[in-house]
Amino acid sequence: MILNASEAAIVQAAQALRDGLLVGLPTETVYGLAANATDDAAVAQIFVAKGRPAEHPLIVHVASEEQVPLFAAQVPEFAQALMAAFWPGPLTLILPRLPGVATASAGGQGSIGLRCPSHPVAQALLQTCLALGVLGVSAPSANRFGRVSPTTAAHVQSELGADLLILDGGDCAVGIESTIIDCTRGEPVLLRPGHITRAQIETACGRTVWGKDAPHDVLGQAAPRASGTLESHYAPRAKVRLMTASDIVHKLQALGPHANNLGLWSAERPTADEGLGSGVLWRQQAATAEEAAHDVFSVLRDLDARGVTQIWVQLPPDTPEWEGVRDRLQRAAA
Ligand code: TXA
Ligand code: MG
Repeated sequence: MILNASEAAIVQAAQALRDGLLVGLPTETVYGLAANATDDAAVAQIFVAKGRPAEHPLIVHVASEEQVPLFAAQVPEFAQALMAAFWPGPLTLILPRLPGVATASAGGQGSIGLRCPSHPVAQALLQTCLALGVLGVSAPSANRFGRVSPTTAAHVQSELGADLLILDGGDCAVGIESTIIDCTRGEPVLLRPGHITRAQIETACGRTVWGKDAPHDVLGQAAPRASGTLESHYAPRAKVRLMTASDIVHKLQALGPHANNLGLWSAERPTADEGLGSGVLWRQQAATAEEAAHDVFSVLRDLDARGVTQIWVQLPPDTPEWEGVRDRLQRAAA
């Protein structure tokens, strides 16, 4: 059931969360499937609805920095600087967890992922929840495990069914999930690239941001598990292939009239001479990383819904601002 996110609908959703039910929640990144973060039974239903393995931890969404001490045992100075710079916004911080709190949400790990979303509907819901005694809301992306993340209320309904209460907050502005920084290993480690870039993080906290492959002797501790960081993820039914612009033209020309049920997301529309025929569904890839991030999941989902068997994607340049989009595409193709 999709509800326009009026004040009354937000109260209804907050009450549903307090009562242990699930809610489809708009955020500035993607839609989330929300449950009361401290209600382990409610959180367990998220794993069932998504078909997600229970040891994969979920992100807890909070109304403001004030709720952080309710979940985190300790906040390093660099994490504090990142909250000050980017919250509310598309940044998740992994922090040492307060023992006994949000155990199911943390997938049993000793850490907790915290994020303060900026979407006005998410903010209003989290504030209303607080007033009802719900301290935070666990919400993974509202898709079946391993599939494409939803960026509209209709996507959520098609993933999870008509019974779920979904707040409609419009089309998600960012379009890919939050940047995740692990703050439990003494130095910031990038677990998932996103709209907020590595360079922005480094500038805001004055530290080097390590990658997942950072040497053990630098960090001293093993990396946590992160399902959004599995090699294969975000997969449509169609097979995704990443190519250069010239590869695309050569392969289209080689197929000629045999090109059929083919989706294509590229910067330039190929001409008929270059092999664009009626069997090819072309979508324009935006020239900026921000616009392409906004579009990537909805383009994959839309082409998939039209029954194409392959989606050819022009791989964007290997530059810092494209890191988030390239990451999602590489895992959609894996
Ligand atoms: O933008 C987003 O972050 C969206 C919206 C709904 O807020 N949420 C989202 O959640 O992407 P999800 O569950 O699909 O991705 C959460 C990622 C996973 O890779 C998970 O493993 C990681 O965060 N994560 C959460 N808690 C963690 C923890 N304690 N340690 C390590 N990774 C954690
Ligand atoms: Mg996800």
